[in-house]
Amino acid sequence: MEVIICKTYDAMSRAAAEVVAQVLNEKPNAVLGMATGSTPLGLYQELVRMHREESLDFSQVTTFNLDEYVGLPTTHEQSYHYFMHENFFKHVNIPKQNIHIPSGTTSNYRAFCQWYEKRIDECGGIDVQILGIGSDGHIAFNEPGSSLSSRTRLKTLAKQTIDDNARFFDSREQVPVYAITMGVGTIMEARKLLLLANGAKKAEAVAAAVEGPVSSMVTASALQMHEDATVFADDPAASKLKMREYYEWIQAKKPDAPRV
Ligand code: GLP
Repeated sequence: MEVIICKTYDAMSRAAAEVVAQVLNEKPNAVLGMATGSTPLGLYQELVRMHREESLDFSQVTTFNLDEYVGLPTTHEQSYHYFMHENFFKHVNIPKQNIHIPSGTTSNYRAFCQWYEKRIDECGGIDVQILGIGSDGHIAFNEPGSSLSSRTRLKTLAKQTIDDNARFFDSREQVPVYAITMGVGTIMEARKLLLLANGAKKAEAVAAAVEGPVSSMVTASALQMHEDATVFADDPAASKLKMREYYEWIQAKKPDAPRV
């Protein structure tokens, strides 16, 4: 796992956007795995800027989002459909039919989840998956205890997650209790993983994910088993990493490393 510590949130967002842009330059029809939450907003803004100012092209891109709340219509301001449209999709040129977001209003969740998995396969798998991290160490909505082999499914949210996400709703009671989420196993099949974390509130989760034991209690720790995973953390989010100096040393020495 590569750990990149950035001085600011903006620097972190730019560094991660740079990697996504590189993937698109090498493979214009790449399949992108999208995440929601406040963390990737800066990354999306930077990709939109690159699209406008540097002609970064999304016309052949396909996307799959990680998760969606159950019960929220796509027009609900807190639905992930709405979030993605407002913060990213409406600003770039991804063909509508190439956008996939789990349905929070399907009449058959089991069938929908199976279809979602099949659709990812049909599109050739995810090239680069963007991830945030919950304060309990979850990725997507894979709460503590989720199998590290889990697939797209219905999930009951943990109380911690409901508390954390209540800030986006008028009251805690309005936060949905269920979500549909890609599984840890689904995420681990992406060819490249980029996990972003900012703020002191994420410091413990980041340390547990990067340096703790691989455990279903911290589903982000599964990234330790992935062959191409990068964690981008801003200064406060990196503050509990024991090996921080070493990660910074690796980055400082990178330009001089032998070329393969
Ligand atoms: C939700 C999402 C996750 C996200 C997490 C953190 O639980 N399902 O994908 O990583 O929130 O959100 P934020 O970035 O707002 O801290």
